[in-house]
Amino acid sequence: MRIQQILLQEQAVQNLTVRGWVRTVRRSKEVVFIELNDGSCLASLQLVATESVDAQALAAVTTGACIEARGDLVASPAAGQRWELRVTQLEVLGEADSSYPMQKKRHSFEYLRSMAHLRPRANTFGAVFRLRSALSFAVHQFFHQRGFLYVHTPIITASDCEGAGELFRVTTLDPLHPPLKEGGVDWGQDFFGTRTGLTVSGQLQGELFATAFRDIYTFGPTFRAENSHTSRHASEFWMIEPEMAFADLAADCRLAEDFLRFLVRYALEHCGEDLQFFNERIEPGLLDKLTALADARFETMSYSEAVTRLKSSGQAFEFPVEWGLDLQSEHERYLCEQVIGGPLFVTDYPKQIKAFYMRANEDGRTVAAMDLLVPRVGEIIGGSQREERLDVLSARMDELGMERESLQWYLDIRRWGSCPHAGFGLGFERLLMYLSGMENIRDVIPFPRTPGQALF
Ligand code: 4AD
Ligand code: MG
Repeated sequence: MRIQQILLQEQAVQNLTVRGWVRTVRRSKEVVFIELNDGSCLASLQLVATESVDAQALAAVTTGACIEARGDLVASPAAGQRWELRVTQLEVLGEADSSYPMQKKRHSFEYLRSMAHLRPRANTFGAVFRLRSALSFAVHQFFHQRGFLYVHTPIITASDCEGAGELFRVTTLDPLHPPLKEGGVDWGQDFFGTRTGLTVSGQLQGELFATAFRDIYTFGPTFRAENSHTSRHASEFWMIEPEMAFADLAADCRLAEDFLRFLVRYALEHCGEDLQFFNERIEPGLLDKLTALADARFETMSYSEAVTRLKSSGQAFEFPVEWGLDLQSEHERYLCEQVIGGPLFVTDYPKQIKAFYMRANEDGRTVAAMDLLVPRVGEIIGGSQREERLDVLSARMDELGMERESLQWYLDIRRWGSCPHAGFGLGFERLLMYLSGMENIRDVIPFPRTPGQALF
């Protein structure tokens, strides 16, 4: 039985078997107390072993060891726990000597990052990765309930959706002697007969599916070779990208709002013990914040208004605020933390700071874009209504100097049966940071990839 299940027992049980990893051992004269954890929940099970248990095995029980124990589950006389296991038989499956680095004392997250192979055995990371698992399931549940089709978009692709030039290259060409043609490398001789990379977003392919299935979503890894050394950017992260046919920007915002609220409620309902832990150890007030969000309506503000508010704030920002410049994290946080005090949609950004596919507004300067900003994290969702008019889209691509040939398929759906559509991307790690209060994206990814870091 998993420890979570054991701790939920209504009655004493005889002859149970448990397996797990030892968190701590306390030895007194006649009794040995062992805290055993198997990752199924935050709490550990207390095992109580007396001299009736094989002394040699007992001696090998140390912090970090893997053990199997058999015994009777009885009401615990100790405060703070309902059950304990009186051990009758014990076997050490894997010993751990005193060099085991995860001893009881609290380690810094930074130190624990250097041991991504062991940190899942620490309380905080147990809670983080249970949350990550539960919320992955919640994502699918939300869209499944609404009849969205789940589509697997390719990981290797020839198109840079966001146009930011952040594609990691995928090639089998010899780096020292690539085939050349006039002007440089002959990518036509590469594995796929063209220049390819790892996807930065499944959106473009998602849009194609939306013109056949109406409502779709993707949920998968995305990659960006962006040299950002921040606590909110990873080179490999997971994104959820829904796309809806017959939707405008307002409908897109409503979906984003419903989605985030659903995920928050799901976490409150299913991850209570872990959220309680985050509330105590990571972000005081977390539970109140999440509970309030589950019922709140989100505010909306245009980019132009946001710029006006920031300029008149009297706040000294590190980065300049000017109409036409992108909002930086400090601006985003100021808006949702100081101005609004909760989640905020910022809409209608200048076209020059947004991707080519966003629908042009009538003012000729802005596009039907939205970012959802939340306290502490800043941008958690980015989305837009898409340009469904072939002539407008083609003209925009020309304006940006994009070659149309490799995106012919994308233009085709504007040619045959085009329809208004909209979608967004939720950064899964940003969501987890918001839900847990963890401040570094590296601490919500099992094995994070960031510039200069691909160990494990
Ligand atoms: O705003 P972004 O770049 O939008 C897109 O990729 C669109 N194609 C989405 C769409 O409309 N279907 O990224 C979307 C979200 C961001 O709001 C952020 O939460 C997350 O993805 N994100 C990152 N998360 C971690 N590390 C990074 N380097 C990220 N870049 C974006
Ligand atoms: Mg964005």
